[in-house]
Amino acid sequence: MQPKTQTNHTVTVIEDGAAIELHTLNSASARFHGVWLRDNALDSDTRSPDNGQRLIGAGDIPRDIRITEAAIEYDRESSGASLAIRFNGADKRYLFPVVWLEQHRYDCTTAQAKVWLPEHIDLFDENLDSAIAAERFDNVQRDSTTLARWLGLVRRLGFARLGNCPMENGALTKIVELFGYIRETQYGRWFEVRTEVNPTNLAYTGLGLQAHTDNPYRDPVPTLQILFCLENSADGGETVLVDGFNIARVLNDQQPEYFELLAHYLARFEYAGSEGVYLAARKPIIELTADGEITAIRFNNRSQAPITDVPYVKMPDYYEALRAFSDLLDSPEYQVRLKLVPGECLVFDNTRVLHGRTAYSGSGSRWLQGCYADRDGLYSRFATLTAKH
Ligand code: FE2
Repeated sequence: MQPKTQTNHTVTVIEDGAAIELHTLNSASARFHGVWLRDNALDSDTRSPDNGQRLIGAGDIPRDIRITEAAIEYDRESSGASLAIRFNGADKRYLFPVVWLEQHRYDCTTAQAKVWLPEHIDLFDENLDSAIAAERFDNVQRDSTTLARWLGLVRRLGFARLGNCPMENGALTKIVELFGYIRETQYGRWFEVRTEVNPTNLAYTGLGLQAHTDNPYRDPVPTLQILFCLENSADGGETVLVDGFNIARVLNDQQPEYFELLAHYLARFEYAGSEGVYLAARKPIIELTADGEITAIRFNNRSQAPITDVPYVKMPDYYEALRAFSDLLDSPEYQVRLKLVPGECLVFDNTRVLHGRTAYSGSGSRWLQGCYADRDGLYSRFATLTAKH
């Protein structure tokens, strides 16, 4: 069949009407199936004009659907080209902007890597200056562009700092209101992380805490954590952040067999530290989607339960893999260190960025308040603030 040309773009009906092939000036050609086009039609019978929600399901589409006509049309008013098609058995034309088709193309020839991360993510290590990931509370509250930039840091780097927050008990709620809602747990709307360093014994050393993710025993796990600093006068007590996705990448590069063990087999996590509470989850240390995207890290020695889902013959290697992952976490080259100051808040993705603290000593106090929130709400806020209308 000959291409029908009305603009710079062309379209060809292929495979006896089961699909079309679109050739545009901007990108390589892309094929789209008739069933896919019918399913994703943009007309008001397929999608609600009020809320954009779909009004049909896969079962509503005839199995023998065929494309009977396809052409490119040019709309002078919108200055945009559209694909216009008709299906067998339906007296209706369906229009798809070419720009929309390019955004939703699925006819990709390059094979997806076995393990991958979305393009919007920037991995970090010790070379990151965390000062670049900071804004002031009053600025993000007042200016939506600054708020979008700050939220974008959480999406890109997995964490962001916020200075000059209101110095008051529970200021966390005002910070979370910038992008979403607190996720309440049995620890309350927020929890206290408070230590008085013994001033009469200068030899006293507050223990460091290995980088970890919080609450891996929950399913779903809290996706965002917010830490707010009210006091931090002790020596040391720096916050340590490690990009768990970067650690996973390094492990996959250096010892792919260990990566595979931590991603394939499930660990167990438990918490029964409060009366009336028993939380348990069976999840991998490195979580992948079915097509290999790294989506979550769970690592917390304190709440790891006996691992019983690794085959006997694999268990020694699994422990070697755990040790390798733990050693990478402890390696300074992958750590960012920062000292939170009173009035400063840290927001981080608890499924990606592991947090810990260095030891502290001398006199003084360290008082943080923490809470959890849902990352999808933050992403939603970011998306609506940055949407191009
Ligand atoms: Fe923690």
